[in-house]
Amino acid sequence: MDLLKLRFCKFHVNNLVSICVFLLVMVMIMRTILLPNSFAFGGSKNGEFESLKSKDVRMKFLEVPQIVWGLNNQKIAFARACLTARMLNRSLLMPSLSASLFYKEIDQLQPISFDKVFNFEKFNSLCNGFVKLSRYSDLTNQSDLIELQKGSGRRWTIEKDLDQLNEFSKQDFDVYETIRVVGKNPFLWHDHWPVSDYAKVFECLVLVDEFSNEASKVVSKIRELGSNLKSVVSSNETSYVAIHMRIEKDWMMHCKKREQRSNLSDICSSKDEITSRVANISGLRSPTILYLAVANELLEDDSILNGWKQGMHPVDKQRLGVVDIYDKYPYLIQAAIDYEVCLKADVFVGNSYSTFSSLLVLERTQKMIKMGVSHCGTDVRWPSYAYNLEGEFGGPRPWMTNFSDSSLQEISYGSNKVSC
Ligand SMILES: *[C@@H]1O[C@H](CO)[C@@H](O)[C@H](O)[C@H]1NC(C)=O
Ligand SMILES: *[C@@H]1O[C@H](CO)[C@@H](O)[C@H](O)[C@H]1NC(C)=O
Ligand SMILES: *[C@@H]1O[C@H](CO)[C@@H](O)[C@H](O)[C@H]1NC(C)=O
Ligand SMILES: *[C@@H]1O[C@H](CO)[C@@H](O)[C@H](O)[C@H]1NC(C)=O
Ligand SMILES: *[C@@H]1O[C@H](CO)[C@@H](O)[C@H](O)[C@H]1NC(C)=O
Ligand SMILES: *[C@@H]1O[C@H](CO)[C@@H](O)[C@H](O)[C@H]1NC(C)=O
Repeated sequence: MDLLKLRFCKFHVNNLVSICVFLLVMVMIMRTILLPNSFAFGGSKNGEFESLKSKDVRMKFLEVPQIVWGLNNQKIAFARACLTARMLNRSLLMPSLSASLFYKEIDQLQPISFDKVFNFEKFNSLCNGFVKLSRYSDLTNQSDLIELQKGSGRRWTIEKDLDQLNEFSKQDFDVYETIRVVGKNPFLWHDHWPVSDYAKVFECLVLVDEFSNEASKVVSKIRELGSNLKSVVSSNETSYVAIHMRIEKDWMMHCKKREQRSNLSDICSSKDEITSRVANISGLRSPTILYLAVANELLEDDSILNGWKQGMHPVDKQRLGVVDIYDKYPYLIQAAIDYEVCLKADVFVGNSYSTFSSLLVLERTQKMIKMGVSHCGTDVRWPSYAYNLEGEFGGPRPWMTNFSDSSLQEISYGSNKVSC
């Protein structure tokens, strides 16, 4: 009898334990399903920033030197600063860009605030959870900072740089509200991030309305001209080809030197080479408008408008009557408007060694991938080509960005690898 009682009791206890274990497991499963982030990663990046605010804990920031040089060098530098801040688990204090293209004279760099060029709110909403920009007014104590001196010279290797960043992301540095990077501009920092991370940042860069409206004006002028041509023929397609022609004296000197130094012969392209490669692009409808994105010094030179294949109608800013739109603005804005016009073109042709061309192809490839296109070719929407490389039938080589690349090296400095 006693034995029986004992057995029953044991059974009862065992059962209770099983029920408890079962309930616990259920709770864990529910939690994982309902709160996946908090369970797996201790909160998404955004969650961290949100909880920082709600708990009224101080936010932490990264400050970087003024961003300089060409439009696309500046975009790369900005993205590198964002990714550095992300690695340090900090928000990037909105940096100054440079409105002018002076390389040496520091006093002529014309600092221009990031939010005068790109939409600050849109940036943070599009990049939400990935990287974050803050304003200096978010600081609670301007002097609560530590400087991070970037190393330089040959002995400052990529590994040393990474070690330094890892060091500064340790919790010991959490006591400082701001880490201020001093030294070289971010374009010259070592790169530690894959192309896909940069692409995420570039996607969040949207021009402020004033400038995107100017770009739209230029694009409608081009399309208008296209539809006027079309009234002669039956088709009503108003597509256009944008060609980023680097043939000005400065570039030619630079690219010849580079060809000699690297024992390559495919960096420079003459105007004749460009016109004949573009003439041989297969599948282009005729007539078509060619928008020539050229340096201002070439706008005085009518000869760039001659020598194109029959049915191809070249226009530049002068011929389009849009010089006054551009003339209102400093270098950086002019370049940003031209970039938009090339981005919206149905076909883009550029030089694979140009940062401007390379970033355009990156964004256009991203658009193609979103539409499900993953192969190069002439039959795709938004195709891009490199005129400095020979493709089939004497045409330019199709060009896509390799999103699996582990660094931005090839895009920052250009190369002849076009993944097609
Ligand atoms: C990032 O910062 C937040 C807030 O300071 C902190 O809770 C979180 O643990 C940090 N994440 C990492 C990976 O250090
Ligand atoms: C600001 O930070 C500095 C450096 O950490 C500190 O000495 C100072 O007391 C802080 N000021 C305030 C108002 O917290
Ligand atoms: C082009 O013309 C055809 C008829 O000729 C018409 O159906 C079509 O909507 C037009 N497309 C555009 C973009 O205007
Ligand atoms: C340059 O390249 C050519 C072939 O592309 C090769 O024959 C030549 O040896 C190279 N010169 C140097 C200095 O590398
Ligand atoms: C490429 O274009 C040029 C100039 O229009 C022409 O002479 C040449 O035959 C074309 N090449 C091919 C392979 O079609
Ligand atoms: C893209 O980059 C990856 C990694 O560097 C490389 O393995 C792959 O071959 C590249 N693909 C093309 C098409 O170049």
